[in-house]
Amino acid sequence: MKIRTEFLPFSRPSIGEREVAEVTACLRSGWITTGQKCLDLETGFRERTGARCAVSLTSATAGMHLLLLALGIGPGDEVITPSLTFASTVNQIVLAGAKPVFVDVDYDTLNIKVGQVEDAITPRTKAVIPVHFAGGPADMDPLLPVARRRGIAVVEDAAHAVGTVCRGIHAGGFGVPAIFSFHPIKNITTGEGGMVTLDDEALERKIRLLRFHGIERDAWKRYGKGGDPSYDIREPGFKYNLTDIQAALGVVQLARVEEFNARRRLLADLYRKGLAGIEGLDLPGVPDYPHEHPWHLFVVKVSALPRERFMEGLAERNIGYGLHFPAVHRLAYVRERFGDMSSRLPETERAADRILSLPLFPDMTEGDVAYVCEAVREILGR
Ligand SMILES: Cc1ncc(COP(=O)(O)O)c(C=O)c1O
Repeated sequence: MKIRTEFLPFSRPSIGEREVAEVTACLRSGWITTGQKCLDLETGFRERTGARCAVSLTSATAGMHLLLLALGIGPGDEVITPSLTFASTVNQIVLAGAKPVFVDVDYDTLNIKVGQVEDAITPRTKAVIPVHFAGGPADMDPLLPVARRRGIAVVEDAAHAVGTVCRGIHAGGFGVPAIFSFHPIKNITTGEGGMVTLDDEALERKIRLLRFHGIERDAWKRYGKGGDPSYDIREPGFKYNLTDIQAALGVVQLARVEEFNARRRLLADLYRKGLAGIEGLDLPGVPDYPHEHPWHLFVVKVSALPRERFMEGLAERNIGYGLHFPAVHRLAYVRERFGDMSSRLPETERAADRILSLPLFPDMTEGDVAYVCEAVREILGR
């Protein structure tokens, strides 16, 4: 094959003139930190997900930190999550003083095996954090009644899930807290940023306070005309508020998400056709229950070659790739503190050495997908 001269990145944000205009207008407006634009983005998330409350933040990780704190998770507690997740979740569990308990994923969809969650519950279990992996929904339907019956909280990791619908309900709309990420590779971006959606007003108030030092008034209320610049703090908080500059970008991105996700779906479909029937290459499975998939990632599993050789082949052909994710139970600190859990996670183990994320982003062309498919065939055919 003829090797392209221009590098094809694994991901690239789609930023158009509307985004530039809105961010520029914000910069010129005289108000650039948390204000009306953040409220607009929060409204957009409430409307999209059906959740009663939404709080914008500097990242999804910040949202997880504050939720674990607000839910009272700490030393002696256990939190159930898949090992095939971003390390940030497990970092937050461990930093809260709690113990991560890993449940296996389905090799095909890479989503948590919901049927195994109940077996992992102990008297110390406080929460379960399913991940809508790559945008494919974890099955909330059987999970929520188990959690309710056993008295444990559910936090949806919806970092990949702007546009994920499970049995007619958008991620974040299940009545439990959810975190969304606006990191540049995500389905919509604010540069960096995140959102917590939830239905519990008392919890929302706590998250809002913890987001900004514990201060009981927002800056825009304190600094407005005739505002009261004093404040009180009952519980110390953090500094996790999103800026209006970022939210201005996010509001336009959210308005474009259907366009982005339609494009992602089309490209994923082309990958599926272009990569069908290759021996030693497993394509991403999709849930067998009703859902909508926003194709945040296109994660293949390679068994025909060691993954390093596959990555070398892609790099030689000027193609980028990602790894979502190095299994968290294999990370050094997790193994040192919690021991070797590999024997309990057979499908995670099987997937962990094989997974690789191929380029997928809305501005990719059909020709780019065809090029990657040809490259994969050539590399694996060798
Ligand atoms: C599954 C998952 N959870 C959480 C996060 C954390 O998101 P953020 O980078 O916004 O903190 C990510 C981000 O990459 C993710 O992929």
